[in-house]
Order: sequence, then structure tokens, then C-alpha cells
Amino acid sequence: MRLDRSSRRYIRSSVVAGLVIGFTLIPVVNAGTIPISVDHDSSEHNSSLADKPTAQLPDFAYIQPPKTEPPREAPKPAPVQHEQLVDCQASACIALTFDDGPDPATTPRIMAALANEHVRGTFFLIGNRVASNANIVRQMYVNGDEVGNHSWSHPDFGKLTPPQIEQQVGDTQNAITATGVPPPPIFRPPYGIKSQAEYDHIHLPIITWNVDPRDWAEHDPNRVADIVIAGAKPGAIILMHDTKSTTADAVSRIVATLKPNYKLVTVSQLLNLTPDSHGLFIGR
Ligand code: NI
Repeated sequence: MRLDRSSRRYIRSSVVAGLVIGFTLIPVVNAGTIPISVDHDSSEHNSSLADKPTAQLPDFAYIQPPKTEPPREAPKPAPVQHEQLVDCQASACIALTFDDGPDPATTPRIMAALANEHVRGTFFLIGNRVASNANIVRQMYVNGDEVGNHSWSHPDFGKLTPPQIEQQVGDTQNAITATGVPPPPIFRPPYGIKSQAEYDHIHLPIITWNVDPRDWAEHDPNRVADIVIAGAKPGAIILMHDTKSTTADAVSRIVATLKPNYKLVTVSQLLNLTPDSHGLFIGR
């Protein structure tokens, strides 16, 4: 029981009065009636908007890029390995590509499946998912996987103005370089939609694919693997999505099956791209 100053004074005077009149008056003080100081600021803040969950945004909503500082130490890329020196005109090469990440749950699983077999993949990233998954992006680069640009918010580029196209691509380049990795050397348009405006306003090679296993429609990893393996051919760029757990579950088997017959390389390796490369590439 806590007593405030006036209660204590009241008890003292009551004791004196009790001695005088022959009995002691002990006031019963209900703790609940003692004024308890309330920190209005903190209780207000506890119920403030800042603590309420933000409204669910639809997939691919355009959220302004945050101002981020690059890390002080840039990550080191994987050392040059033999497949970087492979001539994909002479050898049977395949590029496994993964769109729409990074996804914190599924993308690292795919990266690990590739790294375990010492092969490389290509990830086309959504710009507005990069800052919150910066460690994943750095690890991609360290693993030797290729980091590609898949726009900021995945709109239909056929409906964008030239300034919107440049903003979608430029904001994504900036978000990726802000994680400390080099600017992506390749761009993949959302939905594979190509337009003259893209050629005119995007100064990166535009990469689509020549094998589409429609992994997003499958719910059985074995079926995804079967379709990818059946579609494999020299020079293939295979479209998949690292946001799908079914695909993540399929990658180990895909890699184990293809690796004896193909070099699994990045898109830039497959196409032998250089910094001067420009135009549309669907495979080789
Ligand atoms: Ni996409």
C-alpha cells in the first residue's frame, strides 16, 4: 500500500488525536484512490497510428524508394570459377532465372540449392523489395549469382510513359547499388512485355526467355522439376519465380539432373554480354 504525503500527514494527526481521545483512528486507504501519476505522453503514443499495422498494399504497389546509404564495405564477389570462362557457343549452357524477389523465405533457399552444387543462377529483382532484403542481395552477389533489374513495382511497361519507364528502372538500379553490389547489367520487363519505348529508354540488354515452365501455376515441386528438365536445351533461358515455395522445393532436383549435361551459368555468361550489349535477348 502506497501512501502519499497528505495521507501520511493524516495518519500522524489521527494517531495524535487517537491518543488524546483514547483510541487510535487508522484510516483505511484504498490504493486505488491514491492518485497515481499517469504519463499521458506514453499512453497516447502507445495507441498512436505509428504502432498500428500499416494497411496491406497490393502486390507490386509503387512505394517511394527510401534514402539509403551504401554499406561502408562492399561485399566481395565469388572468385572467378571455371564456368565463367566457359564458351557457351562451344558448350551446352543453360541460364536458370528467377523473377519477382527477393523473398525472405524462398529466395535464400534457391540460392543455397544453387550454391550447394556450385552453379549460378540469375535473379531479376523487384526494386521495392530490395532495401528490406539487402543481405540477400549481397549474398547473391557474393555467391556469383547474377543480379538483374525487374522494375521497381512490376507494372505493364506497355502502359508507361518514357519518364515512368526511366524511373522504374533507375530507382531499382539505385536500390540495388545502395546494398553495396554493382549496378545490374540486365533488365527483364514485367510479364515479358516488350515495347519500342523500352529499347529507346532502357540502356541495358532486355532479357526475356525461351523456356517457360509456368512454375507459378504448379503446386507440386516434382512437376515443376519435370517440366523444367523436359524443356532444357542448350542456350535456354528458363523463366521461374523465386517467390514460389514450389519452385524453391524443385531447384535442387533441377540442378542435380541438369548439371551432368549442361553448364548452369548466369544470363550474362550464357549470352556473353559486355557493357556495350544492347537489345532484346531471349536465349541463344
Ligand atoms: Ni515478374
